[in-house]
Amino acid sequence: MVAEADSGTRRIAILGAGNIGQALAQGWAAAGYRNPESITLTRRQLHHLESLAERGFRITTDNVAAVRAADVVVVAVQPQQLSGVLEQIREALDPDRHLVVSVVSGASIAEIRAVLGAAVQVVRAMPNTGIAIRESMTCLAADPASQAGLAAALPLFEAVGRTLVIREDLMVSATALCACGIAFFLRAIRAASQGGIEIGFHPEEAFLLASQTAKGAASLILSGEHHPEPEIDKVTTPRGCTIAGLNEMEHQGFSSAMIKGIVTSADKAGKLFVPERG
Ligand SMILES: NC(=O)c1ccc[n+]([C@@H]2O[C@H](COP(=O)([O-])OP(=O)(O)OC[C@H]3O[C@@H](n4cnc5c(N)ncnc54)[C@H](OP(=O)(O)O)[C@@H]3O)[C@@H](O)[C@H]2O)c1
Repeated sequence: MVAEADSGTRRIAILGAGNIGQALAQGWAAAGYRNPESITLTRRQLHHLESLAERGFRITTDNVAAVRAADVVVVAVQPQQLSGVLEQIREALDPDRHLVVSVVSGASIAEIRAVLGAAVQVVRAMPNTGIAIRESMTCLAADPASQAGLAAALPLFEAVGRTLVIREDLMVSATALCACGIAFFLRAIRAASQGGIEIGFHPEEAFLLASQTAKGAASLILSGEHHPEPEIDKVTTPRGCTIAGLNEMEHQGFSSAMIKGIVTSADKAGKLFVPERG
């Protein structure tokens, strides 16, 4: 039954196993939360999934068969591919058994239900690729009719990182800050590494130094005992080198560039899914 909290025994179908679909499967397997045999991955170009099949995951091009063999159906195709996949699986879905989890950016629960029917439990989730190593930040949303589904979906994502239940109207913002955000912070690390190379480190040393420093900064905040500005104050001595570097970055638009990039991504994410007119 969908209403039961996830007990770890449910079979999962991931429809559209590209970047995020494969990361999800790897994260659940790495967590020991699911055996690879209980996860079916689909895509049309099946040869791209052969290495996962060798690791025990089930693979197929047949979305309908994957849905029939599963209890949880994760839809992870691109927004423009969503309508076709939903039409394809509609008849195979049993509202009493299946939970549909969509990670597709921009497609609302109402739009998904409009294709699948009102009785199906539909939850939206916005993870990021950190999920492959159980370090995702996943935002989840459900409407009042899918609260049982939300309770069942939460443990799936808690097993592979941190979760936050948010209002559905914030899912587009979550796409920008968390899903796109992985790229923003990776670019920041790469930029720091390039600076490190210019001041004398070999590239692999510079990447290690920049990445571990970024991890330390994030961990200070995530420990719950530290806030960015007091932590920055601790390392900015008067007339010192940190404040000189920091101010130069701000003169060059560091904070402004990050804020504008996130706002631009959110604007774009809100326009990715265009429902087909029947
Ligand atoms: N990437 C991220 O970090 C991230 C994070 C959160 C959410 N998302 C969302 O997740 C979705 C997928 O993103 P992605 O980056 O993983 O894209 P992707 O790598 O392009 O993956 C989508 C996959 O869907 C498969 N596919 C397309 N049509 C299909 C069909 N009819 N049946 C089965 N499989 C089909 C494609 O493979 P074939 O061409 O071989 O079929 C492709 O591998 C998007 O909606 C995105 O907004 C992405």
